[in-house]
Amino acid sequence: MQLTPVLSQHWGEPNSWTMRSYRSHEGYTAARDALAMEPDDVIKTVKDAGLRGRGGAGFPTGMKWGFIPQGDNKPHYLVVNADESEPGTCKDIPLMLATPHTLIEGVIIAAYAIRAKHAFIYLRGEVVPVLRRLQAAVAEAYEAGYLGKNIFGSGYDLELIVHAGAGAYICGEETALLDSLEGRRGQPRLRPPFPAVEGLYACPTVVNNVESIASVPIIFRKGIEWFRSMGSEKSPGFTLYSLSGHVARPGQYEAPLGITLRELLDYAGGIRAGHKIKFWTPGGSSTPLFTDAHLDVPLDYEGCGAAGSMLGTKALQIFDETTCVVRAVLRWTEFYAHESCGKCTPCREGTYWLVQMMRRIEKGEGTDADLEKLLDISDNILGRSFCALGDGATSPITSSIKYFRDEYLAHFELGGCPFDPYKSTLMA
Ligand code: NAI
Ligand code: SF4
Repeated sequence: MQLTPVLSQHWGEPNSWTMRSYRSHEGYTAARDALAMEPDDVIKTVKDAGLRGRGGAGFPTGMKWGFIPQGDNKPHYLVVNADESEPGTCKDIPLMLATPHTLIEGVIIAAYAIRAKHAFIYLRGEVVPVLRRLQAAVAEAYEAGYLGKNIFGSGYDLELIVHAGAGAYICGEETALLDSLEGRRGQPRLRPPFPAVEGLYACPTVVNNVESIASVPIIFRKGIEWFRSMGSEKSPGFTLYSLSGHVARPGQYEAPLGITLRELLDYAGGIRAGHKIKFWTPGGSSTPLFTDAHLDVPLDYEGCGAAGSMLGTKALQIFDETTCVVRAVLRWTEFYAHESCGKCTPCREGTYWLVQMMRRIEKGEGTDADLEKLLDISDNILGRSFCALGDGATSPITSSIKYFRDEYLAHFELGGCPFDPYKSTLMA
């Protein structure tokens, strides 16, 4: 399968982030055309294209827009989730740095479709260069008349606000994000009601990921058939895959949904010289691990699901045979325990216990019974937590025990990490 640079096509060009550069590539023509359509027809176009949410869950974007009630007298809101923070995920930040106007054009189309007059981009606060770039691009769009009053003379008004969060992983969960945007401590809300019914300020709200919204303008420029010519019937289109770790050329690779890791590695120069792949995540650490047996799994929603994992954020973190899987899983588990918001007991207490046990096991102080206890605690978190963070915390543990139980047992037998040169010769 060939790479298909669409969103990333102009990333390397000088001043790609400016209005001038974006306009030279037909920028804002899609928004002008969409605003000449009826909002319901805009939603239908995105539905027919089959675009699915690129933030991790893959929910159909047009269907989500279609949930917004029509004819009500409440304000509607569009919120772009730019709080990218799933470990290994690094696609939205480069996109916003390189071509912020793609996102702004998508915002105009999406907000018009759901009849919103206010839109927000909720950005991870630590990425100050992205914040500055977005603010500059939004200012350019206001100056050009693409935001504000009577856009393209259509009578449609839209205000766009860029909001910097304070750097909590949980604020990427859509309802915690909304609480944070309202000025409260970011903690998930009970769903349903979903944000489409009761979101920001208890009003109908669409929350979409950056890449999802940025993928919208090209659908209007090139058409539904063109979009559907890539990927599969259920997972159509192109997407950004982030490759990191023990790979020769890490970075973002844009390809049709359904490409395999084996094919992506050909473009990325393979695993670093002299080594071979051991395990990898298809979509960030919240998705169950894959191994060298999964190199030909189609990287789309159905393919990853059928193989026992999830496409998630398409963050492919790749580890070769020099990595101790127990140590890698410990690091991820510490991350989840640190980021747990504490609202519900299974996650707050469970992730704490997982860390205690994983630390003991990694030091070689565990027993076989500890593995069963780890699985039991994971089972009591999975499906019993208030939001997806708790479930995600169990994925690396359960999948690593499934594929690498012997490596856990080796820690017990050796009384330490087999990858530690002082304990064993495995590293040699
Ligand atoms: P979800 O499947 O519960 O919901 C997905 C979207 O569909 C949400 O916007 C939700 O409001 C909407 N939705 C679902 N059912 C609906 C209904 N009946 N009516 C109206 N709207 C409905 O998934 P969730 O919890 O929002 O996200 C989990 C995913 O997030 C994970 O798969 C993970 O990969 C990803 N994630 C991404 C991160 C990042 O940095 N991009 C960070 C952490 C997790
Ligand atoms: Fe908070 Fe974790 Fe419960 Fe989510 S699962 S609400 S992050 S304690």
